[in-house]
Amino acid sequence: MVKIEHITLPEFPLLLAPMEDVSDPPFRVVCKANGADLLYTEFISSEGLVGDSAKCRRKLDIFDEERPAGVQIFGGDEGRMAQASAIVDLTKPDFLDINFGCPVKGIVSQGAGSGVLKNLDLMTRLTAACVKATSLPVTVKTRLGWDEDSKNIEEVAERLQDVGIKALTIHGRTRCQMYKGEADWSLIAKVKNNPRIHIPIFGNGDIDSPQKAKEYKERFGVDGIMIGRAAIGYPWIFREVRHFLNTGQELPAPTVAERVAVCKQHLDKSLQWRGGQAGIYSMRRHYLTYLKGLPGIKEFRNRLVTLSDPEAIKSVLDEVLRKYEGFEMEKEPIQLIDYHENCPI
Ligand SMILES: Cc1cc2nc3c(=O)[nH]c(=O)nc-3n(C[C@H](O)[C@H](O)[C@H](O)COP(=O)(O)O)c2cc1C
Repeated sequence: MVKIEHITLPEFPLLLAPMEDVSDPPFRVVCKANGADLLYTEFISSEGLVGDSAKCRRKLDIFDEERPAGVQIFGGDEGRMAQASAIVDLTKPDFLDINFGCPVKGIVSQGAGSGVLKNLDLMTRLTAACVKATSLPVTVKTRLGWDEDSKNIEEVAERLQDVGIKALTIHGRTRCQMYKGEADWSLIAKVKNNPRIHIPIFGNGDIDSPQKAKEYKERFGVDGIMIGRAAIGYPWIFREVRHFLNTGQELPAPTVAERVAVCKQHLDKSLQWRGGQAGIYSMRRHYLTYLKGLPGIKEFRNRLVTLSDPEAIKSVLDEVLRKYEGFEMEKEPIQLIDYHENCPI
């Protein structure tokens, strides 16, 4: 068992990474139903929360069936981060996570996200301000350091633990690496093996298969892993990893019936959370990823993305099921995108 203060997680929990524009409540419910143990909102600007931005407020929503789930915030100003933490507290998620990992220039230049990796005093003050302002357990997600020559995660972990965080997730890259190269988990293992560290340490970066998850669990000894890009369009990754960890066997690819069921669940949750047309539109990008690999699926997809009535969409999904039921899907290796490929440093 792994504990984040009062939150009890199974042994070696699998975390769905916070992902802007991806890990909204409907997608999180789908991942939870397929084996994710801990979920996070997309990152939310502390400035936006304090300024009562409707977009930021909306990101605080959590469905009951996702719990335990945390809200992630970012910012570079202590006062605003404290105020934002107090706002988050009122909405009663299970924990509050601070983003000290985002490498995007506009955020780093405000001294937020991974920008604080160059200023650990600021990082410590921001964290202490959040811990003081909320009764929720506070966790942090960050990177190895600013650049190759300043990988300070070991010091970061000690200082953050000392100001009261209850778990730390480390993405095995520096800020300057963005998404380039391979994530290096050896420093994550060093943090985990530091006898002074007693909070859970979760590893993150490049997990794209059950085999890799098992290998990294064994090699680096972390308390759990966080999966991001591999879950985009493939929420089954969590149950596949769990099954492989438990049995050493690979699960077959999800059946057509399971794919259709995920489409329907995602659609229902999108309608519930976003409402009518917005829910329908937001689903349109998902059908092809969930149904990818079925020969001739484009014809159905073209209908799915033009219909506006949920019942009509569901009956096309039922047609998909009738046409392809029993079709054996090939398992394809998951491709991880270079998320910030076009981000100017
Ligand atoms: C589309 C996208 C959006 C992301 N948004 C966030 C975010 O809001 N907060 C955060 O801490 N990290 C964010 N990340 C980083 C991921 O949480 C994760 O650290 C990173 O993708 C590495 O893990 P992976 O190799 O499993 O994808 C984002 C990544 C992607 C691909």
